[in-house]
Amino acid sequence: MEAIIIEDLVKRYGHFVAVDRASLRVDEGSVYGLIGPNGAGKSTIIRSLLGLVPYNGGKVIVSGTDMSAPGAQGKVRVGYLPQKAAFQEWRTCEQALVTLGRLSGLEGERLRTRVDEVLGQLGIEEYRGRKVGKLSGGTLQKLGFAQAIVHEPSVLVLDEPMASLDPASRFMLKKIIKELRDSGTTILFSSHILSDVEDLADSVGLLQSGKVRYSGPIDGLERMVSLRSELVVELSDDRGEWRSVEVLGTDIRQPSTGWLVVHVDDPDQLDAYVPRVIDALMKAGCRIRSFNRRDPKLEDVYMAYVGGSM
Ligand SMILES: Nc1ncnc2c1ncn2[C@@H]1O[C@H](COP(=O)(O)OP(=O)(O)O)[C@@H](O)[C@H]1O
Ligand SMILES: [Mg+2]
Repeated sequence: MEAIIIEDLVKRYGHFVAVDRASLRVDEGSVYGLIGPNGAGKSTIIRSLLGLVPYNGGKVIVSGTDMSAPGAQGKVRVGYLPQKAAFQEWRTCEQALVTLGRLSGLEGERLRTRVDEVLGQLGIEEYRGRKVGKLSGGTLQKLGFAQAIVHEPSVLVLDEPMASLDPASRFMLKKIIKELRDSGTTILFSSHILSDVEDLADSVGLLQSGKVRYSGPIDGLERMVSLRSELVVELSDDRGEWRSVEVLGTDIRQPSTGWLVVHVDDPDQLDAYVPRVIDALMKAGCRIRSFNRRDPKLEDVYMAYVGGSM
């Protein structure tokens, strides 16, 4: 079952087409990472998906509800962290969470319990009584996240959730996102930080100039651009002995002194070539310091696709 379906979504600002017939699907209980350079249309897709801006064409269905229908927003339990979280600055963190929790349908004891829980979960209890206007960017971001999950939404939408966080906070947030996913929450998040997408996402959408260039599992994307795994050899005391080495079905190159990169014609057979390559290099008198298999990273795929406009 899909928790989010976007079909042929079009959003124009005047004559400018910000989202151009975008389609994507997010399975229930999975994490979907929307990646793309600045201005690609990530926030516009997210705001359209939530019914926060009217769109010009296409269809958005969240948890079975058409989001363009009147009253749709009240029907679906969605949590949203905007790219720039906006709070009323004079309120304390606790007051802000109580107010927003109430707007999301919580009340009484349940509301108080949940506010305590999310303050603890995000590690911001000490700021409970602090005015929102006095928070650092990172703490504000955590408060925004707390607000997005306080009512335990079944669908959670996060616009650049990790953007202004330090590494420890990013790690914490990723852990919470994974826990939420494991307990059945569907999560769509946007990012231009590829390693975060790689760490978190079950599926990715690659957005460029308002168009979805790819949507699906990450390994499918790697296959599509046919990037290959390779073997990376580090030599100690490289005197060029490798030049005489030939292993049938491989191509050996030297990107810089002391390093060799071995491509294998049949990528599925990569592991079988490991002993052959090591054997041939040793016989030629090469001294191997390290030997590794390097698989294509999302970043390589992204660059092959978008061509460096990151
Ligand atoms: N309210 C707006 N009015 C006019 N143009 C906008 C508006 N919001 C976004 N845009 C334009 O739409 C494009 C996509 O923006 P956005 O969705 O914010 O991209 P991203 O989140 O991927 O950085 C950009 O070119 C941006 O300048
Ligand atoms: Mg954005």
